[in-house]
Amino acid sequence: MMYGCAEPGSVFPDWGPQPLEVEIGPGRGGFALDYAALHPSRRLLVIESRKADCELIRSRAARRGLANLEVFQGDAKLLLPRFFLDRSLAGAHIQFPDPWWKTRHHKRRMVDVELARLLRRLLKPGGVIDFRTDVPAYFREALQTWLEAGFRELPEAAPDVLSTRERRYAITGQPVFRARFENPATDIVTLPGSRTGRDWRDIRRK
Ligand SMILES: C[S@@+](CC[C@H](N)C(=O)[O-])C[C@H]1O[C@@H](n2cnc3c(N)ncnc32)[C@H](O)[C@@H]1O
Repeated sequence: MMYGCAEPGSVFPDWGPQPLEVEIGPGRGGFALDYAALHPSRRLLVIESRKADCELIRSRAARRGLANLEVFQGDAKLLLPRFFLDRSLAGAHIQFPDPWWKTRHHKRRMVDVELARLLRRLLKPGGVIDFRTDVPAYFREALQTWLEAGFRELPEAAPDVLSTRERRYAITGQPVFRARFENPATDIVTLPGSRTGRDWRDIRRK
């Protein structure tokens, strides 16, 4: 195009040669900060909708001299397809997404069929999803959704870094449900159109 702006989705930032990972909803950034420090050869981008949390993570990252951690404020579902080319991500971390209990808020739930499809596209073959939650119903539904999208579950492994919330639970003993999934090299499957992946209910909230 000669004049005007590029079409949405036609221009992507060049993130450079380091393996690229994303964290969705880092909150106060306990995971992001320690993970970036532990893996200096990887580049971690975090997308958080709360401005105050973004500013907090940025200032802590600057104090710790973490050049491989970048923070973006916004809705991850909108930014992900605009930030990353297909098959460009080595990993995606989604830890303790808000459950959005009220029926009218279910559409805000992060892990759903749409996100699973999107991440199947954006992750490289062999790229890994790191999913953690404290809500059993979220865990069950997400597990089914990742698997139906064609991800392969990886064997359990203790996490190398805990998230801010997870550190609290490590002290109080509240259970945490964790699973990791690998993106296989096979073509993307079509998920059943009848499910959203956000339809779960839970009598016991926690
Ligand atoms: C329950 S907190 C968990 C924070 C952190 N992962 C942890 O384990 O401590 C969920 C976070 O996701 C963020 N969030 C919710 N919806 C989001 C969206 N659409 N895009 C980006 N961040 C979002 C919230 O602002 C909040 O910080």
